Amino acid sequence: YVLGLDLGTSSLKGLLVNQAGEVVYTTSSDYPLIHPQSGYSEQNPHEWYRAAVEVMANIVETVPDAKEGLEAISFSGQMHSLVLLDENDAVLRNAILWNDVRTTAQCEKIKETLGEELISITQNKALEGFTLPKILWVKEHEPAIFEKARQFLLPKDYLGFRLTGSKQMEYSDAAGTLLLDLKNKQWSERVLAAFDLPKTICPPLVESSDKIGTLSEELTKEFGFTHTINVYAGGADNASAALGAGIISPDIGMASIGTSGVFLAYEEAGKEYQGDLHYFYHVLRDSFYSMGVTLAAGHSLSWFKNTFAPNEDFDALLKDIGTIPAGSEGLLFMPYISGERTPYTDSKIRGSFLGMDQGHTRDHFARAVLEGITFSLKDSQKLMEERAGKNFRKIVSVGGGAKNPDWLQMQADIFDATIVTLTTEQGPGMGAVMLAAMGQGWFDSVEELVATFVKEAKTYEPVKEQVEAYEHIYAIYRDGYG
Ligand code: XUL
Repeated sequence: YVLGLDLGTSSLKGLLVNQAGEVVYTTSSDYPLIHPQSGYSEQNPHEWYRAAVEVMANIVETVPDAKEGLEAISFSGQMHSLVLLDENDAVLRNAILWNDVRTTAQCEKIKETLGEELISITQNKALEGFTLPKILWVKEHEPAIFEKARQFLLPKDYLGFRLTGSKQMEYSDAAGTLLLDLKNKQWSERVLAAFDLPKTICPPLVESSDKIGTLSEELTKEFGFTHTINVYAGGADNASAALGAGIISPDIGMASIGTSGVFLAYEEAGKEYQGDLHYFYHVLRDSFYSMGVTLAAGHSLSWFKNTFAPNEDFDALLKDIGTIPAGSEGLLFMPYISGERTPYTDSKIRGSFLGMDQGHTRDHFARAVLEGITFSLKDSQKLMEERAGKNFRKIVSVGGGAKNPDWLQMQADIFDATIVTLTTEQGPGMGAVMLAAMGQGWFDSVEELVATFVKEAKTYEPVKEQVEAYEHIYAIYRDGYG
């Protein structure tokens, strides 16, 4: 077996998988989010370790041969969240999480200081969620803590450190710090110097499938393992989810619709989006992915349901949307109810319904909401097509958006590409187990690994008339933002 530990924002999930790529057992342990002030979002890193120990204990107790059969562990984790360690590697304060937005002033400062240089070095814009603004916030607001800080880690790297005693960061997460010189694959001396940060604050860099050590003696004893368990570096959650969905070549995209929505594509070196899409290292050596984010994807749908159909479930709400034609007969929804990330980076814009007609029913509204969410993801797809000449052969749909057949057909028609769903959709944890399997040398190639672990379920083909209808409506949607 290999074990993937996915360190999420609300819980840590464990995923035990065998050599045939079959999920043998899953279990999870929750931890709280701490909101000391509006806009603040923190977590206690010790809780992650506690959760990981609980998850491993569940596995050893429940799966009869796990003790003998477990070979290796790897990780996936929430990106960008800052863990600060002192000279004895003790945690200095709660982690400041990716969804904490206290750092607007620090982002402004980064933009003023580095201008376009930031994008040419890191390939990303300064956003509140990223790590560097969080480091600068601590430096400015908690100087006594910053004084003691010797190194920073990201969540899953901190967990890796606690499990093995070895401190490092792998490239897929390092790329989300705004401190990595992406082209040269090293910490950026220019960015560090611009903010008077010592280079030693950055941990050593490794590849995602590199072995970082073995499970600590303490835990090996506690769980009664009689052999050594190898531990591999792992990857950022989005990169790991992409590997887990088989996104290993430029012509396959991924549309992931959860609370927020992500449109993601594998990239070979040399593509640049000037910060208009996130651009990070993939978990496969020397490859990248680009990614656009719709802030309120599933969130728009749950807002709509909670507001207008609070006593129904999603299936009931969406039951008849298939009877409404593509384009909802002129009704258009802009899903900017909590601002928008890609392509506008505009936290102040808000959503709207356009073109309401006396003939429209609730089914029109429900369909328009799904169409608006999907158009917003298409904005990211368009950027990839227009800037990098991408042409998606297929798009893997995951998350809540992959549960409704009408929505899946709509994705095929709006993205104008074949949509596929997966049989065992396990999110980032699947990427984590695949990295452990890769590290253990279970497969000769990434293709073989993906063929064993990633199984396609259903396929939806675009229908010509619908594609044409949506092309026309999408142009109107694009004007809606203005
Ligand atoms: C990516 C991002 C989120 C987190 C969620 O830029 O902020 O997707 O990785 O864990």
